[in-house]
Amino acid sequence: MALYLKAAQILEKAEKKQGALKTLVYDSRFPNIKQLFALVCETQKYSSVLRDIIESTKLLKLTKLKMPLAKVLVYDLLMGQGLKCGGSWKSAMMKHRPRLQAALARIKVKQKVSRNEDLLPAGTQQSDEHRLPRYVRVNTLKTTVEDVMDYVKRDGFTYLGEAVRLDDLNLKGKKFVRDLHLPELLAFPPKTDFHDHFLYKAGHIILQDKASCLPAHLLNPPPGSHVVDACAAPGNKTSHLAAIMRNTGRLFAFDLDAQRLATMSTLLLRAGLTCHQLANQDFLKVDPDSPQYKDVEYVLLDPSCSGSGMVCLRDNATADQKEEEEEARLARLASFQLRCLNHGLRFPRLKRLVYSTCSIHRQENEEVVAACLQQNPSFRLVHLLPQWPERGLEPLPQCLRASATKTLTHGFFVALLEKHSAAASAKQQPVLQKSDAAATPSGLSVMEEEPAASGGNSEASDSEERLTPTAGETDSQSTKRKKRKRKKKKKKATEKAE
Ligand SMILES: C[S@@+](CC[C@H](N)C(=O)[O-])C[C@H]1O[C@@H](n2cnc3c(N)ncnc32)[C@H](O)[C@@H]1O
Repeated sequence: MALYLKAAQILEKAEKKQGALKTLVYDSRFPNIKQLFALVCETQKYSSVLRDIIESTKLLKLTKLKMPLAKVLVYDLLMGQGLKCGGSWKSAMMKHRPRLQAALARIKVKQKVSRNEDLLPAGTQQSDEHRLPRYVRVNTLKTTVEDVMDYVKRDGFTYLGEAVRLDDLNLKGKKFVRDLHLPELLAFPPKTDFHDHFLYKAGHIILQDKASCLPAHLLNPPPGSHVVDACAAPGNKTSHLAAIMRNTGRLFAFDLDAQRLATMSTLLLRAGLTCHQLANQDFLKVDPDSPQYKDVEYVLLDPSCSGSGMVCLRDNATADQKEEEEEARLARLASFQLRCLNHGLRFPRLKRLVYSTCSIHRQENEEVVAACLQQNPSFRLVHLLPQWPERGLEPLPQCLRASATKTLTHGFFVALLEKHSAAASAKQQPVLQKSDAAATPSGLSVMEEEPAASGGNSEASDSEERLTPTAGETDSQSTKRKKRKRKKKKKKATEKAE
């Protein structure tokens, strides 16, 4: 009952443009966010079909239900997993079920289709959603990949080994593989449900899309480092960062939204984090020069975005909206994202910042990054995972994109910005140096921001990908050496002057 009421409220608010669907769901404080999110997304997707069914059967008049609630109930009754409520709603819906079913059948006959999903508007990515593997990130703060694999094998799943190409992630039945890009990630067949599983409830596994695991993996802060997660709730990337840092160092996580932070706090507790410090604060008002952030070398920035990459939100995000409205919204988001990015680069000892969105729009991705690089010449892009199949749009192929079709994930964008190892001497060393490459974390190779420098150098990039994570230390060592050199020079110059 509560599920349907909440879903109906959210649909009504979304229709009145009182917020993005995803935000409304997260803000709802409903105990089972995933269940609510799935129901709201599915109902929204079939919205026009459901309206046709409800209107043609005069359901509102007969039951006194309001449209959003009727849509949710009809969706679950006819297309979902069956009604999960009792009482007067259930009896009303069961009474009208034959007529509702007949109305759905008539629509299918009229459109000459046999499956529900064929009723969706052309271009709707329903099939994508059903194709995406269920990714499971092992929380190495609590367990090991091997232990989780043994556990699920005992549950009857067969391990097929480590995936070597993308196609290996297309699984059916009770099979699973280890991901080919992310070592702590396992892939199961689409829609495998772990929400009630012990491993999930105990925080041993995190149910996180593969693309959303990229930012922390690529930022790769070493244990003991000081890291900022600028827009952190509900905290999946925060817990991933902490796992990479082995719960050492300091992880400052900010979010503007108190409710989302409360959800995050529970999630992080379950995941066993101890190195974090949560703050209900506007990241743009955080003072990077404050003494407590003096050792921050890594920033993860995953700001609010249009969410257009989320497969289930993709179409309804734009369907009812006028193009100009959408353009204005994107412009507002991009301006906020750029301000966050510029702000993130202000931490005095910053080495690397990862920027990500779950948007497919160039305005929120490549354009934001390009503008930021122009305004911050002491930073450059790192050429990420050379073997990753989907690159940033020109002229930023150093960045990564992700999508259901090319990477079997939700739509996503990631850029990694790195401070020139000696920003001051950047002008004299515009080309990639061997020492620069050695200073990057595992899985990365450095290219200058200049797009021409990134073209077709895949062999060199592949070998650089096997660099070890200790490389960050090399970077600071080389900076220290340069500082010492500069000090010596200065001393000599002073002596001369004297
Ligand atoms: C895309 S979500 C972050 C998801 C999160 N990184 C994760 O992996 O779970 C964006 C978050 O930014 C927060 N936010 C928006 N504006 C903010 C601001 N000015 N300062 C801090 N957080 C902000 C929102 O409340 C929202 O929780």
